[in-house]
Amino acid sequence: MTAFSRRKLLGGIGLGGVALGGVGLATAGCAPATATTSGAVAFQGAHQAGISTDAQDRLAFAAFDVTSTERADLVALLQTWTAAAEAMTRGAPVPGDSTSPEVPPADTGEAAGLPPSSLTVTIGFGPGLFDGRFGLAPRRPAALQPLPALPREILDPTRTGGDIAIQACSDDPQVAFHAIRNLARLGRGTVVTRWTQLGFGRTSSTGSAQATPRNLMGFKDGTRNIKSDDAAALDQHVWVPDTADQAWIRGGSYLVARRIRMFIEPWDRDRLGDQNAVFGRDKATGAPLTGTNELDAPDFAATDGEGSPVIAANAHIRLAAFENNNGLRILRRGYSFTDGIDAATGTLDAGLFFISFQSDPAAFITLQRTLGAHDALNEYIRHTGSGLFACPPGVTQAGDYWGRALVEA
Ligand code: HEM
Repeated sequence: MTAFSRRKLLGGIGLGGVALGGVGLATAGCAPATATTSGAVAFQGAHQAGISTDAQDRLAFAAFDVTSTERADLVALLQTWTAAAEAMTRGAPVPGDSTSPEVPPADTGEAAGLPPSSLTVTIGFGPGLFDGRFGLAPRRPAALQPLPALPREILDPTRTGGDIAIQACSDDPQVAFHAIRNLARLGRGTVVTRWTQLGFGRTSSTGSAQATPRNLMGFKDGTRNIKSDDAAALDQHVWVPDTADQAWIRGGSYLVARRIRMFIEPWDRDRLGDQNAVFGRDKATGAPLTGTNELDAPDFAATDGEGSPVIAANAHIRLAAFENNNGLRILRRGYSFTDGIDAATGTLDAGLFFISFQSDPAAFITLQRTLGAHDALNEYIRHTGSGLFACPPGVTQAGDYWGRALVEA
């Protein structure tokens, strides 16, 4: 191919792209309202999107440390981030009207032409934000303390903590990545990225109409999760109540993130009967070992012919079930991840990037103290990263911004 014809070809592709973008816009413009918003999740609402809204297929998660010590910088960051997140959620580029060739474009561009793809962007504030730097110590909710040491965890400090977290979920990995990348770029000078995690497949369902996905151990995951249409359960277990000590967190939620490495190779050598016993469920159907269908309620009292419990004493679901934890429930919204090969062992570095939302971090701590000490699953997993973040309620009107009630005097 000559230089000339290659240029011509590339030019043609470029033009084609523009034409296609134009058609997309025109179609959206004349379609009925439901179709124009198809694929877009509402940004505004009493609660932030990305918690009880249907779990999307992909995750890009980032934890940031604030490097500025000025409250004004933090306010400006939250304003800029909110406007950018709102635009990206609609499928629009990061706002900015400069077309000058002398400055970088307002948006990095890799999501141009892609639909909103159910993008949700959710923010949370870590305990560290409430130290002396910004005068926020008096606004720290009593519940927002660094997580205590938990059984068997071996946390990597480079995958743990952070002043602010952003969870971007989408059905398109490029749309989720684009959101994180642009917020990191807009935050430069005020925040640095501390750690990130990509997730490639949801391991929970939060909508009643959603099929239950499978985790990397091959089990259906999310069967007995809190679902978005269960308003009573959300109010009781997920949203911070109006009685909370700090007004700004009311209607919000606490996000716990745990990077959980799975020891895939030994798991793959375990016999099926033991795999089922570890969870207390049947791998193929997802049914509890005391039932036949996925949605059958587990019978924790059932015993076999020899008097042993059918769902073992150390089975994951027995230890985690609300029936055995004084009614305690959490909303799980995690993702499968793989970060390639563990160079030290040559084994897969893969697992579950566990995310849960709860009205009080104590719910997670209580569950994990039990699971970390007794769960049969412990032979095959290790918690290697961790974060706790207080997610403020949603933005309810134009011009408002994330965390306004926290940072405005
Ligand atoms: C790699 C780690 C983990 C894996 C592979 C895993 C997998 C599963 C699976 C397959 C189920 C059964 C289906 C369902 O109801 O969703 C389940 C249930 C559950 N898991 Fe996990 N899980 C993990 C870690 C955790 C952690 C860290 C917690 C909380 C601290 C947790 C809390 C729960 C709860 C509350 C249930 C529902 C139990 C019930 O009510 O029956 N899981 N998990």
